[in-house]
Amino acid sequence: MNAERAQWLADYAPQILDAVVDAIITIDSTGRMLSVNAAAIRKFGYTEAEMVGQPLAMLMPERFARVHQGYVENYLANGQAKIIGVGRELVAQSKSGHEFPIYLAVSEIRTDQGVFFAGIVRDLTEQKAAEEALYEQRERLSQVARLSTMGEMTASIAHEINQPLTAISMYAQACMKLLKMDDVNTDKLDDALSKLNRQALRAGAVIERIQRFVRHEDGERQMVDINALVSDLGHLAAGDARLHGIDLQFDLDPGLPSVLCDPIQVQQVALNLIRNAIDAMHEIGCANGHQLTVSTYCEGGNVEVAVIDCGTGVAEDQTDLLFSAFHTTKKDGMGMGLSICKSIIEDHGGELNFRNNEACGSTFYFRLPVTADE
Ligand SMILES: Nc1ncnc2c1ncn2[C@@H]1O[C@H](COP(=O)(O)OP(=O)(O)O)[C@@H](O)[C@H]1O
Ligand SMILES: [Mg+2]
Repeated sequence: MNAERAQWLADYAPQILDAVVDAIITIDSTGRMLSVNAAAIRKFGYTEAEMVGQPLAMLMPERFARVHQGYVENYLANGQAKIIGVGRELVAQSKSGHEFPIYLAVSEIRTDQGVFFAGIVRDLTEQKAAEEALYEQRERLSQVARLSTMGEMTASIAHEINQPLTAISMYAQACMKLLKMDDVNTDKLDDALSKLNRQALRAGAVIERIQRFVRHEDGERQMVDINALVSDLGHLAAGDARLHGIDLQFDLDPGLPSVLCDPIQVQQVALNLIRNAIDAMHEIGCANGHQLTVSTYCEGGNVEVAVIDCGTGVAEDQTDLLFSAFHTTKKDGMGMGLSICKSIIEDHGGELNFRNNEACGSTFYFRLPVTADE
């Protein structure tokens, strides 16, 4: 640095430090604060005199202060500074006890007087709030899409529930008839009642599956057996397929490893692909055949789910638009399905795509990594 510039910096350094938006705090090798800038005073609510000379740990909640003190002691013992050069997300605490998320980057400054550290503290409150809002918005959108998928399936769902209800009514009438007979045949009565019970449970299971799918209470990721998930989904989609004269088949790889994912969201993706496939086959009156296959397999560290249809296939001029929001070729389509599915899968570190089949129709597939990147 030339002398002129050095002088300029020396003259204006305090002003520059105080003009910076982030809090800048220097500490000595024992973790005590040497200086604080104006932003630090503003953010933490202490006066300069209250901070300088005190341990940096006073700016963190108790539970983090202990960890931090461990770092300092480790540094004093063997010179290893764990957070130097790498930034870290932490939680800070102001004088009033208010906790807020921060990003702390620490650099080491070596002088002839010894070593000290400069910590730059960035308040992440607004960034975190924006992330949270985005997450919530996506969750809501996903919820709307689930409801709309269910809406599209109303006819088949109604049918799926009506069937057991009709059977229940029939068995109930049979029981009443049996009861009116002179010598009541308890074996027959028992048989009819247990059939009635089975049908009631069946209707209940349909409703429970729909509720679970639509509500999606806790969006937690867990180790999931994708085959079980796909089979369970088969129960939801089977009625819809049947209603459209489509033969829904499963080709599941028995050696599939579990993957870390949000099961309801992944089910939502698979159900959307199946719904689209049914639409594409229905559109041409199943002219290419009635078979719709959902297959699972493991390849190259990924679990893959493929929905293979023999529907319209995807026209060349559509391929770039397919995954855009609100793109639809259906007269009452919403065009949100694939765009939401893609974001769900990418959020899981996976990939969603499609290819046209050689003979007819297309295959939409998604891959999820077996070892999720933490
Ligand atoms: N299996 C498929 N075969 C052919 N075209 C498909 C298939 N799946 C999706 N598409 C096309 O992608 C478009 C967007 O799908 P999607 O985002 O689910 O919205 P929507 O189903 O409401 O139209 C569909 O309108 C259709 O043109
Ligand atoms: Mg769709």
